[in-house]
Amino acid sequence: MLQTLTERLFDDSDRSQLDPFALFEEWFALAQESEPNDPHAMALATSDASGLPDVRMVLLNRRDERGFCFFTNFESAKGQQLLANPQAAMVMHWKSLRRQVRMRGPVEQVTAHEADAYFASRAKGSRIASATSKQSRPLQSRQQMMDEVATLTAMVGDSDMARPDHWSGFRLVPTAIEFWKDGEFRLHDRVRFSRESETAPWSSDRLYP
Ligand SMILES: Cc1cc2nc3c(=O)[nH]c(=O)nc-3n(C[C@H](O)[C@H](O)[C@H](O)COP(=O)(O)O)c2cc1C
Repeated sequence: MLQTLTERLFDDSDRSQLDPFALFEEWFALAQESEPNDPHAMALATSDASGLPDVRMVLLNRRDERGFCFFTNFESAKGQQLLANPQAAMVMHWKSLRRQVRMRGPVEQVTAHEADAYFASRAKGSRIASATSKQSRPLQSRQQMMDEVATLTAMVGDSDMARPDHWSGFRLVPTAIEFWKDGEFRLHDRVRFSRESETAPWSSDRLYP
């Protein structure tokens, strides 16, 4: 009988050949079926210049063989923190599944081509909003922002809205990915995959919950 990757993950004799990226896909597919909204929401942790951690939600956008991408304003708090210290941690918790996935690692910028492609796929209103927002900086009133949006909307008219330089994406290239599944009496299952670098092979350990 064919086993799911998840069954193999928690089978202590059968984990060595597993690819954590493939496991992530299996879990994410389940989350997309069962979560009432935003299965791709994740908490992104960074740290500021003093070392103080910071955390906020972002949306997991594209994923590829290198890592996990999200898009944002590079002049925002998180953008500035990641440009200065390109390392991060992320966690996704799917309440409907009682499962968690954590990852940590270096962060790189997506290419201009990748950012352009995603920006172009967004609704025009969202593109105008991204261009207007001075994300994470003080705003005197909501009305001021709405006026700025109206001005830019009128300026753009029927033409295309190009991606602003300050808006792009980051890719977290994990060197550790941990899968956590709820268990009875808090005897949860945890398996952590880790590797020395992006090109090194993965190894895995079961952890006490
Ligand atoms: C579910 C959810 C998804 C979000 N997704 C994004 C996102 O993909 N990119 C983004 O810049 N902000 C996103 N936000 C807003 C951020 O949480 C945050 O408020 C904003 O990016 C400013 O963060 P910063 O000041 O730490 O840079 C999201 C918020 C929520 C609640």
